[in-house]
Amino acid sequence: MPRPILLSTPHIGDQELEFVKEAFDTNWIAPVGPHINAFEQEFCEVVGTRHGAAVSSGTAALHLALRLIGIEAGDEVFCSTLTFIASASPITYLGAKPVFIDSDRVSWNMNPDLLQDALDHRAKIGKLPKAIILVHLYGQSADIDPILEACNAYEIPLIEDAAEALGATYKGRSPGIFGKIGIYSFNGNKIITTSGGGMLVSDDPDLVDQARFLATQARDPAPHYQHSEIGYNYRLSNILAGIGRGQLRVLKDRVAARRHNFEVYQQELGNLPGLEFMPEAAFGRATRWLTCLTIDPTRFGSNREEIRLALAQQQIEARPVWKPLHFQPVFSGCECIGGAVAEDLFNRGLCLPSGSNLTSEDLERVIHGIKGLWGVGSV
Ligand SMILES: Cc1ncc(COP(=O)(O)O)c(C=O)c1O
Repeated sequence: MPRPILLSTPHIGDQELEFVKEAFDTNWIAPVGPHINAFEQEFCEVVGTRHGAAVSSGTAALHLALRLIGIEAGDEVFCSTLTFIASASPITYLGAKPVFIDSDRVSWNMNPDLLQDALDHRAKIGKLPKAIILVHLYGQSADIDPILEACNAYEIPLIEDAAEALGATYKGRSPGIFGKIGIYSFNGNKIITTSGGGMLVSDDPDLVDQARFLATQARDPAPHYQHSEIGYNYRLSNILAGIGRGQLRVLKDRVAARRHNFEVYQQELGNLPGLEFMPEAAFGRATRWLTCLTIDPTRFGSNREEIRLALAQQQIEARPVWKPLHFQPVFSGCECIGGAVAEDLFNRGLCLPSGSNLTSEDLERVIHGIKGLWGVGSV
């Protein structure tokens, strides 16, 4: 049985254990500690923002972001449809309603023209959304400028979900720092990981202070335990922040390794009829967190599912592109503006093994597995 090749696994550097050992040696095993402040500061320097709060997950960061913006039951929040459910589930934690927006073909992220039209229409009927969650998918930034302009014109706060896009750039700057609040994830499959964790960032110090307050049970400043509002237990621990500090130091290497994976795949598979790689939009530099491609089954000879299953038989994990949220049973009652592009990307899109720790033999096995299918399928 060949060794399994997984989609995206953690890749630890040389210094994480030193930071964790320091936490043990100084007994900062408690949920607070010096690694947290240092991680927040170092992270902000890397992405180019002023303030950050380290929390237990990207989902928690999004939940806090929506709370900070004042989202309440019955409000509507626009959100990209082509994404992981965690981009939208925090909307429902607050009793608010997601409205989904389709992707463009340039970046696979939210289509700025669709958003502009939708906001113009909503303004006319007096039903503007209370916030917009813009997702930067698979290591690539959305086209932020026109989206931000549309938001600003109607004074709607923009939340950026950059969970998958740490290390990418948009016009030279990091996605996640343009909107009112941005969030990142350090889940085990992300470009760097703390095993689980997230970061909320903003240029507004009060918002980030308030995020820390809500993330630590909203405890009022009093010697006894006093609470005037409901908070959460969402802070990242000192030990995990230590892992994050080590991982930050290898972020550039991880981006380079993932881009290398992409280049090898493209070089070896790019000429096969019916295969098309996720484009890299001219406005930025993608990390290629995951290498994604679409398959035209009539030209390639096999469809996405046939390829995925054939790879699985060879112990190679590939996954369909995210199922659009407007197709998720749990969101069946929700409105979606457009939707055909995301639907097509889901039906034909596949994510290949993309970890920064893949060997050239691993890449060769994946490439060989796909090449072997060209022209032999049932389509
Ligand atoms: C686009 C996107 N948003 C949000 C999240 C949630 O992050 P976490 O798993 O850290 O809660 C993830 C990944 O897990 C994601 O891919």
